[in-house]
Amino acid sequence: MSEILQETAPRKRMLSGIKPSGDLTLGSYLGAVKNWAERADQFDCYYFMADLHAITVRQNPADVRRRTLEQLAQYIACGLDPEKNTLFIQSHIHQHAELAWVLNCYSMFGELSRMTQFKDKSAKNEDNINAGLFTYPSLMAADILLYQPDLVPVGEDQKQHVELMHDIARRFNGIYGDVFKIPEPFIPKVGARIMSLTNPGSKMSKSENEDTGRVLLMDPPEVVMKQFKRAITDSDSEYCVRYDKENKPGVANLMTIYAAVTGKTYEEIENEFQGKGYGVFKPVVGEAVVEHLRPIREESLRLMKDKAYLESVYRAGAEKASYVAEKTLRKVYKKVGFVAK
Ligand code: TYM
Repeated sequence: MSEILQETAPRKRMLSGIKPSGDLTLGSYLGAVKNWAERADQFDCYYFMADLHAITVRQNPADVRRRTLEQLAQYIACGLDPEKNTLFIQSHIHQHAELAWVLNCYSMFGELSRMTQFKDKSAKNEDNINAGLFTYPSLMAADILLYQPDLVPVGEDQKQHVELMHDIARRFNGIYGDVFKIPEPFIPKVGARIMSLTNPGSKMSKSENEDTGRVLLMDPPEVVMKQFKRAITDSDSEYCVRYDKENKPGVANLMTIYAAVTGKTYEEIENEFQGKGYGVFKPVVGEAVVEHLRPIREESLRLMKDKAYLESVYRAGAEKASYVAEKTLRKVYKKVGFVAK
């Protein structure tokens, strides 16, 4: 009996997104998409390309369009089967922008100004500190709350935004009753914060250029190898592969990447490279990454040639997503006092 109940119980819902503001990196893959794909069979999943978020920083329109479709191909190539997962483009679901407006009226100036990402991005784009950059977390809260998910799988850097979403949702629910389900962030144990290969003090980011030590999901094998061979290791006298995030951040980052793509523990990695120097370690990590990414890259390239298929996926995704989103938005509009259409 309990087995039957378990089988028929509705699956928990997961939701997340990535901005097409740059090409997907190994960081976004290990911190987010890999984690999504590993759980795609256990959850009812909603994943989207966050194009509304991308324009908070100036973009070349043709690049946004290309990256949005490439990102969809990459989601599928990473194992997100469109038959089982709802894959959609954020701007196709007008309810995101509408709920974001409502939530803007329940988000406080002080809490938005405390966001690390806002401070970082404002410092990097001094000539374009626009209102969208500031209210970005209200839109992100809307993205999530529209779908009433249980879990939001993200990398470490998005935790602060997910926490602010909690505060906004609690504030709203506190006034109007239980309108929103309040989900938890779901952060992977290994790979939640992949650092730049040439500057292990800063996050590997898709908006940076090649010289800043990032690896792209679509980089050809020789480029991946080049990036790993020139990765910064530590200038300590010890010269051995040992996990010590504080004192050996470069080596620790490479160990994290190696652990994430091979499934090995840090202890196993330390044993494997005992008595061997960084010159041996770095290309082995590079090769493991190349082999891990190879099928993803090949499948993405194949899917990118089939625009009609990609279109059918995002159209079907939009249909499913807008049904769920509209239900929540209607409830919200009613609660705040808007007259029904
Ligand atoms: P974005 O596009 O910056 O990053 C996408 C996802 O990848 C993770 N990530 C990383 N993880 C580990 N190491 C790294 N170096 C690394 N770089 C990126 C991020 O934590 C993220 O999970 N605001 C979000 C997109 C978004 C969203 C949402 C996410 C919009 N609406 C609703 C969840 C739910 C963002 O800018 O992620």
